Amino acid sequence: MQASSFPSRTGARTQVAIVGAGPAGLLLAQLLHRAGVATVVLEQRSQEHVLGRIRAGIIEQVTQDLLDEAGVGQRMHREGLVHHGIALAFAGRRHRLDLHALTGGRAVRVYGQTEITRDLMAAREAAGLPTVYEAAEVQLHGFDAPHPRVSWREGGQLRELACDFIAGCDGFHGISRASVPPRALAVFERLYPFGWLGLLADTPPVSDELIYSNHARGFALCSMRSPTRSRHYLQCSLADRVERWSDDDFWDELRRRLDPAAAEALVTGPSLEKGIAPLRSFVVEPMRFGRLFLAGDAAHIVPPTGAKGLNLAASDVRYLSRALIEHYAERSDAGLDAYSARCLRRVWKAERFSWHMTSLLHRFPDTDDFGHKLQEAELDYLVHSRAAATALAENYVGLPLED
Ligand code: APR
Ligand code: PHB
Repeated sequence: MQASSFPSRTGARTQVAIVGAGPAGLLLAQLLHRAGVATVVLEQRSQEHVLGRIRAGIIEQVTQDLLDEAGVGQRMHREGLVHHGIALAFAGRRHRLDLHALTGGRAVRVYGQTEITRDLMAAREAAGLPTVYEAAEVQLHGFDAPHPRVSWREGGQLRELACDFIAGCDGFHGISRASVPPRALAVFERLYPFGWLGLLADTPPVSDELIYSNHARGFALCSMRSPTRSRHYLQCSLADRVERWSDDDFWDELRRRLDPAAAEALVTGPSLEKGIAPLRSFVVEPMRFGRLFLAGDAAHIVPPTGAKGLNLAASDVRYLSRALIEHYAERSDAGLDAYSARCLRRVWKAERFSWHMTSLLHRFPDTDDFGHKLQEAELDYLVHSRAAATALAENYVGLPLED
């Protein structure tokens, strides 16, 4: 574990205090470091805990570019799998969407978020930069005034850090958004009446590309982490418990929800991990409060169907890093002032896309036979109309960033 190299004395200061060592916080820290901006990262969990979380793994081109810019893209290029297409399965048949052809040569890369986090941690550690793991009771102070501070407990001792800005990169359950007076926030939220049961296994993927399956029994997704490690999901009830699903139950149910060729190709094996996650759409506006800037899951959540969570965190971080660098290098706050609105324009498009993919592919409690026929008709239109397929493809590979 990386030792905390943060000094215990009071009077310590940095330029940007970053709360949360997930991909948003660590990527921001790395981009700022490369531009000579000082940061301290405060993370409430241990490094092992952060690295133990299994998350999604579809990386848009703009996210790949940002990881390259941060100097942490080497392993992603070596080990990540470039995907030029995805498959949509419905009514017993599978149809390929050629993302590459539909978007003028763009693609996504399969590389686990956990691996990105590992690469970012290694870069920060190699540069000897301060990260405090197991920082308890993190609190944000005075971010509506010129001299904000953060405090926390470390090994029972109270620590404090003065800074110019605070980046709230502490995820959906973090303290940053919760520190803002509720009257200053507008919250937009939708909960879905189902969850995803995920399973990771050292078995070869069903196919070279991801399969998103709409089935009368519920949605299924066949994804992967490598040519020998597969990641699958099943739509399940929110009342379901993971203990109720044996590995065999999972594989049997997955097989039922796939097209015959995929069901035939499915190789089963013991699970390495199994878990249930609820699906949620959530946006808070604005994403800036004085000298506090929210980024990533702290400000917005998407259901995983569109594979946008990590990519949105990365685009926030791109805007925020450039804005902070501009502040220090050019004494201009134009980027900081534009940050929230600029992020939210992209966030809402990804919210729309993720909601649409979720609506199209899942069985809702009120999806009657008529509703299911409408889903199939839309899917059929999608795979046969170049215009409709292009709209899906350009959202899936990632919408362009603003300059
Ligand atoms: N103090 C310090 N750290 C905290 C606190 C707190 N009070 N609360 C949460 N954290 C830490 C969490 O332990 C976690 O390591 O903040 C980090 C937030 O990381 P993520 O949840 O991974 O969020 P983010 O970096 O925005 O990444 C977004 O994660 O959930 C996925 O789909 C999402 O892929 C997307 C990505
Ligand atoms: C994953 O591999 O975990 C994954 C892939 C695509 C999604 C969601 C999750 O849409």
